[in-house]
This record gives sequence, structure tokens and C-alpha cells, in this order.
Amino acid sequence: MTEQAAAGALVWGVKASFRDYVRRAEGEVKITAGAEAAGDAFAFTPTDEKLKFAGEVDFDAHGGMLKVTVADPWIELADDGSASLSVVNPARLTTDRSQRLTIATLGDFTPAGDGTAKAPAYLTMNGVWLLGNVYGPGDELDTVTFPWDA
Ligand code: HEM
Repeated sequence: MTEQAAAGALVWGVKASFRDYVRRAEGEVKITAGAEAAGDAFAFTPTDEKLKFAGEVDFDAHGGMLKVTVADPWIELADDGSASLSVVNPARLTTDRSQRLTIATLGDFTPAGDGTAKAPAYLTMNGVWLLGNVYGPGDELDTVTFPWDA
């Protein structure tokens, strides 16, 4: 996969098999609000706050029955060293974008030495729900690339 994105972006494809499925279903993928395509993945713009990114990707298929929105991904680091990824709660996109859902936990990551790190990502229950209750908790998503100085 080619991943070319502006420095400082979070680059993530969500889940390759999900993207393929939406394509097979002749669905639409809209990339807006600060996100852009980065090869097969999506690049979300950095904001003034570290590890908080802006941009929206909307998957739409089956005549509107499938609507999955991944908006403004943030990486959150917990005191115990674990990391997770949250997005705007899709049920609150137009009413209160401060409402967020943690959709993935991130596994151990090592800095790549070029100002980025890559972390494996695994679905939480909220992530299972976001993607339509088809996958299970702990299922692996695409690897997340994000800025990391070390
Ligand atoms: C009219 C409604 C729907 C139909 C007819 C439908 C049909 C299908 C079919 C046939 C598959 C197997 C596809 C394949 O492997 O090529 C599939 C997989 C899947 N569907 Fe749907 N679906 C519908 C609605 C939804 C909705 C509403 C969601 C999520 C919000 C969803 C999420 C998924 C996911 C995540 C997969 C697994 C894709 C993968 O990783 O292989 N579907 N669906």
C-alpha cells in the first residue's frame, strides 16, 4: 500500500477487507473535512493538539443502509502505557462532536525513526458496533501510522 501523506498526519485505512467490501457493493467513499486519500488509506490532518487529527471518511453502500463514518481520529495514551483510538460518535456527528467513541485499542508500537510510529489496532465493542456488528471484539484493523518523536 502506498502511503503518502503530509507530515504529521495520522494515516489509517480502517480495515482493508471492509474497504474492498464497500467497493464490491459499489458503494461510495467520501473523504472530507481535512482528510485526504493516501494510497488505499486515508490521511487525517494534524491539529494544534498532539495526537488529535481532523477529517472525515464516510462509507455509504446498499442504497444508504450502510453508513459508516470515521471522523476526527484521536490517539489517547493511558497512564498504564496503553493506547487507544477514538472517533466522533457517529450518532452525534451533527449535534455534538465532542461525544466520542473509543473504537480500537492499539498494540505495542515502536518508533520508525522517521518521526512516525506504526501500531496494530484491534476492535473494541464500540468499534464492532461502528462497523455493523459483523466483526468481533479484538479483530484486527489496519495498522495506524501517526507522528511520534522519539
Ligand atoms: C442491505 C443491507 C446489506 C446487505 C445486503 C449486506 C450484504 C453483505 C454481504 C453479501 C456481505 C459479504 C460480502 C463479501 O464478503 O463480499 C457483507 C459483509 C459485510 N457487511 Fe454487509 N450488508 C448490508 C448491510 C450492512 C451494514 C448496514 C453494515 C455496516 C454498517 C455492513 C457491514 C458489513 C461488513 C463489515 C462486512 C464484512 C466485510 C469484510 O470484511 O469482508 N453491512 N454484507
